[in-house]
Amino acid sequence: MSHENALVGVKVVIDAGPTYEDIDPVRFLGNRSSGKMGFAIAEACVAEGADVTLIAGPVALATPGGVACRVDVRSALQMRDAVMKVIDNADIFIATAAVADWRVAEYSSRKIKKNASGAPVLELVENPDILAEVAARDPRPFVVGFAAETDHVAEHAREKLERKKLDMLAANHVDENIGIGADDNALELIWPGGSETLPRASKSQLAKTLVARIAARYHARKAT
Ligand code: PMT
Repeated sequence: MSHENALVGVKVVIDAGPTYEDIDPVRFLGNRSSGKMGFAIAEACVAEGADVTLIAGPVALATPGGVACRVDVRSALQMRDAVMKVIDNADIFIATAAVADWRVAEYSSRKIKKNASGAPVLELVENPDILAEVAARDPRPFVVGFAAETDHVAEHAREKLERKKLDMLAANHVDENIGIGADDNALELIWPGGSETLPRASKSQLAKTLVARIAARYHARKAT
């Protein structure tokens, strides 16, 4: 593992993977995030000397060597609590997780039975937006968001960067064989006043470039 030392002494909190919102003891609402992008970023941050806390949704991935602390969670509410517990001490927050936007209003402690009256109607309520909550803190860490989009990637990304007042945002296409769940990704990296396209590469390769860009902008902001 190469050691460039761009993040020595810097505390980085990363959330990764999906969240699962339980409906009853056997069913849940989930998504196709594997956690690979977030775990690759954690590994790249460690390689730069960072002190990394990794908050992971339900994924089947080993903790990258050198990660100081890993917290496993299941739901968006648990992920939010885990992030808020450690965010006071963070210098950089990187939100790669595909957090469920909604959860069921009422969890059923018994398995919902099929019956003659037809399919159940699930009432959903909105989950807290962890990224927006971290970005709204004062003082706050350097905040990097992600955006998964099926269309108009650049426009949606710029809108999200500005609305959530982020320091940087990495947008990716949601497609069949790239991005969510896949081994490769491609990113549109944007920040206030600039942008860069990171073309298709393995998540591990992309994470190294992304972390180099994050480190550069983090240090530039600190110097102002
Ligand atoms: O896990 P992989 O299979 O490797 O796939 C990686 C990825 C495609 C999941 C990742 O690169 C990615 O795009 N993550 C963000 C996915 C997403 O949920 O995007 P969004 O546009 O819905 O959310 C925007 C940002 O807000 C994200 O940083 C997300 O973490 C954050 N968010 C969203 C909702 C919420 N309730 N809380 C949040 O913090």
